[in-house]
Amino acid sequence: MNIIGGPSSQLLAGRTCESSGSNLLISEFRKFPDGELYTRIIDDIGEKVTIIQSTITDTDLVALLQLIEACNEASQINVVIPYMGYARQDKRFKNGESITARAIARTIKADNVFTINIHDQSVLDFFDARAVNLDATPMIGKYIKTMEFHDPLIIAPDDGAIGIARNASEDLGIDYDYLEKIRLSGESVSIQPKNVKVKGRDVIIIDDIISTGGTIAETISLLKKQGAHEVFAACVHPVLSNNAILKLFKAGVKGIIATDTIDKGVSVVSVAPLIANAINVI
Ligand code: R5P
Repeated sequence: MNIIGGPSSQLLAGRTCESSGSNLLISEFRKFPDGELYTRIIDDIGEKVTIIQSTITDTDLVALLQLIEACNEASQINVVIPYMGYARQDKRFKNGESITARAIARTIKADNVFTINIHDQSVLDFFDARAVNLDATPMIGKYIKTMEFHDPLIIAPDDGAIGIARNASEDLGIDYDYLEKIRLSGESVSIQPKNVKVKGRDVIIIDDIISTGGTIAETISLLKKQGAHEVFAACVHPVLSNNAILKLFKAGVKGIIATDTIDKGVSVVSVAPLIANAINVI
């Protein structure tokens, strides 16, 4: 298997080659004077290729499309999109909106597509190719297990992320829960862990994405008010747009744990072995 690392996933592509024993191809990425992208795979493309490219920006998506097109003559093209931008635009929430996740998925021409903790499984149906979602949360859980915590609790910021908290804590002997919003009256709501008390415990909040940091910053403040000891934030995709990191620290986060689906300073858990396992069996 030859692996092609797109511009946004070079480190992850290199690590995946290490984990899978595949061959890493060298590509060239640059811009024309008018801003258009130029992408060229310099090494021999071969028969079976896996392209790894997170589509964090619109430009990353164009680079992915260029790489797929460049591999047109290969007999098998696999595409790994560790972080898929626009995946949260998976429904028409208001009349006249675009289901952008579907529009993008339709442009990806491949034999197999792999995503990692895609925001909603329904996005997989938008691809023409066989599409498989990989779960990185047990890897985050294993990392958490190596850290020193006082009576740790993994918590999801809402019931939608409960699966993530459960998968991260599975087999680790760490409790998990989610925050439940209870409407007390027309004006007031109470938000608290569904089943357990956080007082005096170290809490790790886990979500699929930290984007603006708003969800997690609010959750940190709330847990602190409820007496949590240290509060950590964990996620699969550290989008961390604008001043998200500042917001989290201002809210009192002790540390941020994320994977390298997006390569940031907080990307301490590599999903390379997960990708390697998936591509080694196709
Ligand atoms: C929402 O459905 C997601 O699971 C995340 O909670 C959300 O994308 C986080 O966004 P932000 O960091 O901007 O609050």
